[in-house]
Amino acid sequence: MNTYARQPVAFVRGEGVWLWDEAGKKYLDALAGIAVNTLGYGHPKLTAALNQRINSGIIHTSNLWRIPDQEAAADRVAEITGLSEVFFGNSGLEATEASIKVARKYGHDRGIAEPAIIVMEKAFHGRSLATLSATGSRKVQAGFEPLVQGFVRVPLNDLDAVRQVAEHNKNVVAVLIEPIQGEGGINVSRLEYLRGLYEICQKHEWLFISDEVQCGMGRTGKWFVYQHAGFQPDVVALAKGLASGVPVGACVTGGRAKGVFKPGNHGSTFGGNPLAMTALRVTVDTVKEEKLMERAVKVGELIRAELKNHNLPGVKEIRGMGSMIGIELERPCGELVLQGLNAGLVFNVTADNVIRLLPPLVMNEAEAREVVARLAPVVKSFVDKRVAA
Ligand SMILES: Cc1ncc(COP(=O)(O)O)c(C=O)c1O
Repeated sequence: MNTYARQPVAFVRGEGVWLWDEAGKKYLDALAGIAVNTLGYGHPKLTAALNQRINSGIIHTSNLWRIPDQEAAADRVAEITGLSEVFFGNSGLEATEASIKVARKYGHDRGIAEPAIIVMEKAFHGRSLATLSATGSRKVQAGFEPLVQGFVRVPLNDLDAVRQVAEHNKNVVAVLIEPIQGEGGINVSRLEYLRGLYEICQKHEWLFISDEVQCGMGRTGKWFVYQHAGFQPDVVALAKGLASGVPVGACVTGGRAKGVFKPGNHGSTFGGNPLAMTALRVTVDTVKEEKLMERAVKVGELIRAELKNHNLPGVKEIRGMGSMIGIELERPCGELVLQGLNAGLVFNVTADNVIRLLPPLVMNEAEAREVVARLAPVVKSFVDKRVAA
């Protein structure tokens, strides 16, 4: 189906942060399959564990039975999130969809017949009907109306807007937020804003739902952005980098959301299968063992600082946290992706004019310098050409 505007390249081999295409050309990867390949390509620990799992003959059983790999993975997720229950699916939208269902069920359990969830402008939560309705982008929603009801939208980083909703809408049961908006253009929530939002949730007994599908898993220097702000949400949605490329989504609950889902409330045939759970366990353990969160901070700071040193023309702002980086240009710059590929660098452009860098967490400082060495001339010639034209 014609759902993707694809670039004319196919990667057929990978090692560390490097990729090779069909013609043997080598590329430096600063995107990690959009924050998915946490451990880069061909990580020996991941490859060995997956091979072992496959060689055992079992990659799927069923959630009808106990799944020891799932139990081990759930322990890891509980440990890194600080929450206590986890439901495994296969993608980000399944994680956010489950979170929305938890919020609605929480409302119904409290006698609210039409529960509402506060969501943010420019947020992205997925492409199922409920998650696209929660998403703050008309482009994502257009053509799929009628939208799912029960979402109230406010601007990011604006506590007064949330307080006003609280005053007028007694059906609100939860806030759903991407603490750093990825698809929306690397828009970072202020930490004091997150703390204020959490306090409002506490006051009104709303669930705080953190969609960390893109910004989570150590990329910002802590496992999750809410840990920078110093509180525990009730629900966390995870996917992308959680299993380094094997599809996994997770809806994690604790606090007020603990025990909301009962047997029969939710399910997924493939969710939590032994293969995916093996990848999750190894990803978490390797991020810890190899101190990849510390590395993500160093690499991210280095890239941002070196880019700033270049004083590139046409750049409005360089922002982000750790290895989640947005470079906002003054005008739309989608064509830069192909120019980057020509220069042997993989990145993408989001929100029309934001170059997005989400390197694998195994990137080292020399490779980070090389990202800047390849990216800066591409941006410069793009802007120079526009000025000349
Ligand atoms: C913050 C966030 N939530 C949810 C999703 C949906 O994830 P998936 O594409 O795996 O369904 C994405 C995907 O980009 C995302 O960035």
